[in-house]
Amino acid sequence: MADSSFRVGFVSDGPPSAEQDAALAWLGERDGVEAVTVADGDDSQGNLDVAWWHRDEPLADGTPAPVTAALADVLESGGGVVLSLRAMEAVTALGVETVLPDVTTIETVAEPTGPLWRVLYDDHPAVADFETVRIPVCDRGESAVARYESVLPAHGEILAGTHCGGTDVPQEMVVAAWNAGAGAVLGVGTPLLFGESAAPSVAENRDRLAMGCLRALAGGPTQPERPADAAAMAGMRTRLGTDPSRPAYHLTPPANWLNDPNGLIAWNGCYHVFYQYNPAGPFHNTIHWGHAVSEDLVEWRDEPVALAPSPDGPDRHGCWSGCAVDDDGTATALYTGGKGRSQLPCLATSEDPDLREWHKHGDNPIIETPPADLDVIETEHWEAEFRDHSVWREGDTWYQLIGTGLDGAGGAALLYSSGDLREWHYEGPLFVGDGTDGSVWECPELLDLGEKQLLHVSNYEDVLYFLGEFEDGRFRADCRGVLDHGDFYAPQSLKDGDRSLTWAWLPEARDLEAQWDAGWSGTLSLPRVLSLGPDGRLRQEPAAEVTELRGRRLAGPTAFDLDSDRRRLPATGRRLELELELELADATAVELSVFESPDREEHTHIRYTHGGDLRVERAASSLDNRAATDTQGMTVTPYDEPLTLRAFLDGSVVELYANRRHCLTSRVYPTREDSTGLSLRAEGGRASVRSLSVWEMRSAMATGTADAASSVRL
Ligand code: FRU
Repeated sequence: MADSSFRVGFVSDGPPSAEQDAALAWLGERDGVEAVTVADGDDSQGNLDVAWWHRDEPLADGTPAPVTAALADVLESGGGVVLSLRAMEAVTALGVETVLPDVTTIETVAEPTGPLWRVLYDDHPAVADFETVRIPVCDRGESAVARYESVLPAHGEILAGTHCGGTDVPQEMVVAAWNAGAGAVLGVGTPLLFGESAAPSVAENRDRLAMGCLRALAGGPTQPERPADAAAMAGMRTRLGTDPSRPAYHLTPPANWLNDPNGLIAWNGCYHVFYQYNPAGPFHNTIHWGHAVSEDLVEWRDEPVALAPSPDGPDRHGCWSGCAVDDDGTATALYTGGKGRSQLPCLATSEDPDLREWHKHGDNPIIETPPADLDVIETEHWEAEFRDHSVWREGDTWYQLIGTGLDGAGGAALLYSSGDLREWHYEGPLFVGDGTDGSVWECPELLDLGEKQLLHVSNYEDVLYFLGEFEDGRFRADCRGVLDHGDFYAPQSLKDGDRSLTWAWLPEARDLEAQWDAGWSGTLSLPRVLSLGPDGRLRQEPAAEVTELRGRRLAGPTAFDLDSDRRRLPATGRRLELELELELADATAVELSVFESPDREEHTHIRYTHGGDLRVERAASSLDNRAATDTQGMTVTPYDEPLTLRAFLDGSVVELYANRRHCLTSRVYPTREDSTGLSLRAEGGRASVRSLSVWEMRSAMATGTADAASSVRL
């Protein structure tokens, strides 16, 4: 192919529609393009650089055989195939894909609509000309469309969601790419009309995108593939590596979306953390189980995706949250399969010492309906709110908790028992909320803390915990609280010898558009040890191993008094740990400012006030108006003693542990490069800092800069 010109075969599949005529006319007017028509049965496509099938009618009888043959020839000779509108469905006939786009329809377009390109692929030659990833290409008319919405292609990689009327709709996945031997296929199922007028800027986008796709497929067909091995995962990390908001010592997904930690298990000398993961981008949809491994809780490495939805299974629309247990030497995962409006328990086992390969049970779902005698809440989306699993063994009996919501009562944790993890008997509700604790409980978990048991549940807002006793299939609560007062959700724990290690999802506190632009969303908390204090109350501390992430000491140990003059600390950074012991003395409050720019245009206040009020104030945390600006707070006890605070700052995470028992984790997004300062001041009198230390923290995640399979620190 010459540098600037290429040969496009426009596929004719019968008498042309008006739209096909318009597209062909448009193609004929392009500079540098030699347009030829490839008719049914015509074999003139032999030396095409790219074939374009623009099909605006449904394929009632499937892809016509001559079209399939013509396109297959182009692919075989190393050319590219662009399939627009309904033609995207031809990927199965071409043998490059097994899962069809699940939405194929005619849509009325009334607002500027087009691809929302993934930032991971914003250097793709089809869009290299655009300065934005939001590309409206159609603003009126009726268009045939094809897209993936609740499923992913099995072999193709998603390149774009949808941007419509100024809003991101990432789950409408309209552009996908496939490699086929030496050739490649690009499916473009977004509204793309040549026979309809459009606002000039939209028409210009349409022209540039259509030409970009044709040129990209003509010029070098190799297309992005879904990252599947350690090197590819590392490649994603490297691409996002320069983002200062990205945590470095909290567990993050290699890119894309993360929510709940799942399947936490110590296996074969390693800690395995699986997590809810969407490989198609930084939004919640098409949920898989991502996987990370560590030998020491300090250094982590990415593993390939462990569980993917089965297009024909009860988990077609997602492998949702669950746990993993050791069934006499076989790692066994219980998770929620989502399909249509149903969510039901599924099981998978692994014989692989590295827990990479999992086999789904042939008889999933293992529980076919929620208990018949319960009024489980039904919603528009779900037949029954019935999901998430925690499993433990007592003697020969396995117990399982499933989260639910009961009409008229609210959130509940249901108890089941089993002898083999496959046949389950419903024992009754372990614990039901009092109606004020949320309508649905997600991710219930029961932990044995020795003298007492702890039940925690996530009620869409908070993680509530109850301390009490589990006896005869029921839980009796003596006291309750909130596990963390900030951005912290759906925790899960792992029994590690005598201790219990807990991780949670730290959701983003910025809007969906900002998450899209970042290319990643969600991170996990540090591993926390939950235990009972001598006073019978809950203790929460970071696992001892977290201390090994400390690098250079930047300040302290030091002690000093504070008054209303701001005292800047001789330490700066986006990845720090601060350890502080503080007495208010006659001050009314002490304000610790973190992620502070020199002129204080950006800063996040951590304010401690008499009476034990500890807050994170986000009003000035970020110049980006897509980030949260509210205040999060909690009461710290005992409040008549000095405050001991460990503050972990990591890119966009502020994770606070107060007096070894109260936690508040907050997400903030400083934009300025110099928003790295720390300062302290007292209000209303003098306060005493009895000790202060600051450390730089090292990265916990292996990256793509060196051997990806070994744990290489940044
Ligand atoms: C909690 C949750 C779970 C569900 C999962 C889906 O964040 O909603 O209830 O299983 O996430 O990703």
